[in-house]
Amino acid sequence: MSLSFTVVTTPADRAAAELLAVPIGKGAIFGPGAEAVDAALGGGLAAFMGEAGFEGKLGETLAVPTAGRLRAKAAVLVGIGDPAALTVDGLRRAAAAVARRATRAASVATTLVSAGTELDIADAAQAVAEGFVLGSYQYLDYKGDATPTKLRKVSVIAAGGAPVRNAVNRGATIGDAVTWARDMVNTPSKEKSPVEMVVAARRLLRGRGITVQVLDVKQLEAQRLGGVLGVGQGSQQPPRFLKMTYAPPRARGKALAMVGKGVVFDSGGLSLKTAGGMETMKTDMSGGAAVIAAMSTLADLGVKTRVVGYVPLVENMPSGTAIRPGDVLRIRNGKTVEVLNTDAEGRLILADALSLASEDKPAAVIDLATLTGACMVALGDKIAGLMGNDDGWSAQVRSAADRAGEPVWPLPLPKEYRKQLESEVADMKNIGGSYGGALTAGLFLEEFVDGAPWVHLDIAGPARASADDGYLMKGGTGFGVRTLVELARTFEPPER
Ligand code: BES
Ligand code: MN
Ligand code: ZN
Repeated sequence: MSLSFTVVTTPADRAAAELLAVPIGKGAIFGPGAEAVDAALGGGLAAFMGEAGFEGKLGETLAVPTAGRLRAKAAVLVGIGDPAALTVDGLRRAAAAVARRATRAASVATTLVSAGTELDIADAAQAVAEGFVLGSYQYLDYKGDATPTKLRKVSVIAAGGAPVRNAVNRGATIGDAVTWARDMVNTPSKEKSPVEMVVAARRLLRGRGITVQVLDVKQLEAQRLGGVLGVGQGSQQPPRFLKMTYAPPRARGKALAMVGKGVVFDSGGLSLKTAGGMETMKTDMSGGAAVIAAMSTLADLGVKTRVVGYVPLVENMPSGTAIRPGDVLRIRNGKTVEVLNTDAEGRLILADALSLASEDKPAAVIDLATLTGACMVALGDKIAGLMGNDDGWSAQVRSAADRAGEPVWPLPLPKEYRKQLESEVADMKNIGGSYGGALTAGLFLEEFVDGAPWVHLDIAGPARASADDGYLMKGGTGFGVRTLVELARTFEPPER
């Protein structure tokens, strides 16, 4: 169940909520609302913090006994670090820390939005709302001893009127979309076949101004999506291709195309992964989930740009009907690919999706894919690799990701490495050499965009968190949703 938000101007000591959460800067610097807590302690807040060893480090929390002197039943301090160095992402983390702490309270009131004096108040409000939603995320569908959070209602104590209210609503909408993506990623593969993914996407998108088109196997054949069919042919679960169109009434210009890898389970196929390698491969549809989730917000957020989402959905399995190493597939755009490793399947389905997207003559294309372990070797598990064929478009994506608080870092697409993809029998093969695997994967994808401005985000690392951290919970992170939404909201067609 999602959180509901209100923006109020009630003084902190009068806030009607079970819990009052106030920010404290590092080194006992009181933040907005803290004077109410201090008064409730008879001026003893600094001493209490000292005794408890609370320093105000970012995300640190401390419950304070307020002996019925506030309208809220209890108060909690949340550290924001050095207030002068506070960022929007810091606020997101601080809000998440409160949400994690507040699992037994049904309602929280907070002055957190006003903590970052240097920050734009609307940006701060959006981040705090996102932080509350993301920080209260739990995936409990299969937990017998679940203790779901009781938190339902957040009152944001802030001046600022309509812009702040809109920003809080925007943050809640985006947080809910990320929640949907996390739920899909965390869902076991046996419950999210390509067909079931389509059902879930339709349910999410209904009433949200999105036209949904789905290709079944017959249509995939008629449309010559050889990559999707080839990867999908080893599974009992037939593949699908999902296309989603957002066309607001007064939209001008060409569309933004968003493409997401939708491998609902990646066993590696006949080039089988190890047991350990498969443990997290239900995550392999994270790019697709991010695209679907982002599409769901566009009408609510009043996005003015046309946006089209493309998600190829397959299960990569070994069987008597699976593609074999050495088989050749013909991709939608006519190029042939020799499949030398069936575990390099993402690029095969993305090849079809990028071909279709570029046929629609978009202004720009972005794809998100849990594509290579090599990208995790390069950048670790918190940073996505960014590759592209257009510096302006790459810069636009990077700046949207920075604003959204999703770390990305540029990687090159070296022309000299292209020859690693040369095949003896086909136009190309689906693997390069031993090194630079993230880059040869990017170079492979580039063959299918037909020169359109294109960015590829390899999200193999950040799609999944190995431990709870800030507003991330162990498991699927929903990485990419916030970047895609920010990109759609602020989209400028790259000049060519
Ligand atoms: N889905 C994997 C990439 C991946 C690996 C994501 C680990 C997250 C964690 C992808 O389909 C894959 O198997 N890639 C291969 C490519 C190789 C065979 C060229 C890889 O990275 O090993
Ligand atoms: Mn694979
Ligand atoms: Zn994969």
